Amino acid sequence: MRNKIVDVKNVSAAMALLENLLTRSQIVPGMGLIHGESGFGKTTALQYLFNLDTTNGVYVRCCASDTPTSILNRIAKECGLVSTGRAYQTLDSIIECVRRNEFSLFVDEADYVVGSKKIMESFRDIYDNTEQPVVLVGMEEIARRISHRKQLHNRISEWVEFKPADLQDVATFAYELMEIDEHIQLDDAVLDHIRVKSRGVVRTILSALSKIERSVNGNPPPDGVVTMDDISSLDLFMTVARN
Ligand SMILES: Nc1ncnc2c1ncn2[C@@H]1O[C@H](COP(=O)(O)OP(=O)(O)OP(=O)(O)O)[C@@H](O)[C@H]1O
Ligand SMILES: [Mg+2]
Repeated sequence: MRNKIVDVKNVSAAMALLENLLTRSQIVPGMGLIHGESGFGKTTALQYLFNLDTTNGVYVRCCASDTPTSILNRIAKECGLVSTGRAYQTLDSIIECVRRNEFSLFVDEADYVVGSKKIMESFRDIYDNTEQPVVLVGMEEIARRISHRKQLHNRISEWVEFKPADLQDVATFAYELMEIDEHIQLDDAVLDHIRVKSRGVVRTILSALSKIERSVNGNPPPDGVVTMDDISSLDLFMTVARN
């Protein structure tokens, strides 16, 4: 399998979100939210955004053990600052740096910290004092909890819910990532089987495609089309019997 980021619909939606935040009018608030189930490709889309030449950003990933101090120290480090002072001093340095460099801040796995009022207020402080885009990323918990927090909720002007991959996305992943003879194609029934069984989770789709890739390279279909029959003996999805 090729190691690259495929520009599927969710990735384009994330790009549009950042673009809209960067070009918003002055009276529109500038926080963004990307949410969706595990494995739908949120972190990968952020990496893609983050690596664009046009993006001037800071990426931090929250952890279960984060405290207000640890998260501020991580942001400071990503900003290239040495944080030696107290939390409020670190916050001031971050604000100054984000404002000066016009950084966008991406906060991944924000579910871990959404329960901490202090941490969420730090993100809000960074936004209020810089007016640079702050994009929070996480699963359902983040969307639900933020909707209950008026002060954060009304600063969010752009939000995207990542959707399960559809048939076209599965076909794009297969075409862009599988290292197989270019004349070999996967039958639509196979692509749809992968879509249904994976429930649109990219992580699961890629592991199924990688198994098919290995099988096809060892034993190519004579007519150039991989059908359901060809994959019937492959164990593509981990299924656990529930008793
Ligand atoms: N657009 C893409 N192009 C190529 N690979 C992708 C893409 N999106 C996701 N993947 C692959 O699928 C895997 C899962 O994606 P990712 O980790 O981004 O999901 P996530 O939504 O952040 O999940 P979690 O909520 O568990 O953190 C990644 O390891 C990556 O290899
Ligand atoms: Mg992730």
